Amino acid sequence: MAQRPVVTRTVSKLRATLLPFRGRRQSIALVPTMGALHRGHLALVKEAQRRARRVVVSIFVNPTQFAPHEDFGSYPRRFAADIQALTLAGADVVWAPSPDVMYPDGFATRLAPEGAARAGLEDKFRPHFFGGVATVVAKLFTQVAPDVAIFGQKDYQQLRVVTQMAKDLDLPLKVIGLPTVREKDGLALSSRNVYLSELERQHAPVLYRTLLASAERIKAGEPIEMVLEEGRHAITLAEFALDYLEARHALTLEPVASLKDGPIRLLVAAKIGTTRLIDNLAV
Ligand code: PAJ
Repeated sequence: MAQRPVVTRTVSKLRATLLPFRGRRQSIALVPTMGALHRGHLALVKEAQRRARRVVVSIFVNPTQFAPHEDFGSYPRRFAADIQALTLAGADVVWAPSPDVMYPDGFATRLAPEGAARAGLEDKFRPHFFGGVATVVAKLFTQVAPDVAIFGQKDYQQLRVVTQMAKDLDLPLKVIGLPTVREKDGLALSSRNVYLSELERQHAPVLYRTLLASAERIKAGEPIEMVLEEGRHAITLAEFALDYLEARHALTLEPVASLKDGPIRLLVAAKIGTTRLIDNLAV
């Protein structure tokens, strides 16, 4: 029978658990998550196993990346089911600190990422978000000290921000981004999909369909801004309140005017009912 991962809840227990691995020179991969694990998260765990001898999965719903009006309180928490899934997946260690352990009384330091973190995409609608993400991920990286950390391209701007943060802070680890795992109809798996009503769920794949169609048309040479305008219209027709549909440079996330400006990534965020969904695709 598969062995349950060791669940650690304090930094000292985490370090004591990892010490023997380091003693045996076993490489360590970290998969940071907020729990409510789905097949997308588990694909990251699988890749982590391919890339390292030991796999640590963090489960921490990080309060500092939620604004007061956002869903921190109601964010799905499924710890028992997550442990079961990670047992089957064969993770070695779960790092599950409480907010008090992560941010003890007197905690006073916050990273202020720039560059991709100020691209005018997620940051425009969630101004607190990347400061919270960069701070907690930097802490996770120093707590676990992994050789490699695995993220999803699903949160594309986050992946760019975290990659740059690790580089800027000279953290000795490799950040890997994996393709988005989707439902059969194209909807990107997300812990927030459980919020969707049946009708909203039927509308939701319009985001991916629009990304696909727009990428094809841009590749075929149609003017980017015209393609995006039509895409925005299609998304709005499907009952979404659109935050953005943009074409950006895939690495810097700076605006692009044509295919000549470099590799392009399309990024979208929109709200249906009370649920905000994001997605992205390479052109
Ligand atoms: P969370 O939303 O739980 O996502 C954890 C990781 O899973 C992220 O790297 C995310 O990009 C990846 N992921 C989510 N859905 C995916 C999908 N459908 N396919 C592939 N990968 C997917 O992102 C966070 O948590 C937090 O911001 C965190 C980085 C843990 C910091 O708090």
